[in-house]
Amino acid sequence: MRRPFIAGNWKMYKTRTEAFAFAEEFKGLYGKSNVHVAVCAPFIDLDILKLAFQGTRIQVGAQNVHFENEGAFTGEISAKMLEDMEVDYCIVGHSERRQYFAETDETVNKKLLRLFHSKITPILCIGESLEQREQQKEYLIVRDQIIGALQSVTADQVSRLVVAYEPVWAIGTGKTASPEQAEDMCGFIRSAIGVLFSEEIANQVVIQYGGSVKPSNASKIMSMPNIDGALVGGASLTAKDFMEIINY
Ligand code: PGA
Repeated sequence: MRRPFIAGNWKMYKTRTEAFAFAEEFKGLYGKSNVHVAVCAPFIDLDILKLAFQGTRIQVGAQNVHFENEGAFTGEISAKMLEDMEVDYCIVGHSERRQYFAETDETVNKKLLRLFHSKITPILCIGESLEQREQQKEYLIVRDQIIGALQSVTADQVSRLVVAYEPVWAIGTGKTASPEQAEDMCGFIRSAIGVLFSEEIANQVVIQYGGSVKPSNASKIMSMPNIDGALVGGASLTAKDFMEIINY
């Protein structure tokens, strides 16, 4: 039985002061909620959030990681460093990183392997661009992203993976995929994982939808059988909006 999982993706927003203020407000609103929640924040905010959420069930994630264990990689952060901070999740392969920071399926794959080694759960982002959808290549693109990302990943690791289907055309645009479109692709992702591993494994994978999720559309999206949660950008920056999504 898959548990609903809602994660916030703060992107490059919130200073430490702002992160602390958010955490204090959000903790109060979250109370004893049963929904599984994580906030994926900039590196500098992670320790503040870990501390503020101590004693709650709210978890904390990073938004990127380097694939090497350590070394001369100025400005980078390793999985070992995140593990030492007891970070629970890490977003990998977000379309903004693929687009602006030359992330490829190959680096995404290396990052996944490193995170699994450090016992940090990856949130693997995949999704097609508008152009690719218009050319009716969306299934091909998504399938190739899955195959590329999961090279050498074991069945046991995949069963613990979170996949976020984020059509690029729906991110930050206010243009959400319809619940049916999102369900269709999340179902496709689950069956592609089933082909690569097994149906049993595929049924354990948590699949989120991401792209302009807001309080007004969360419940419809969450009602879809293959959608287990949401990766929320803009609407996760405000404690009240994020909590409304969690209470879908
Ligand atoms: P959005 O971002 O909710 O602001 O569209 C989602 C994401 O990029 O993860």
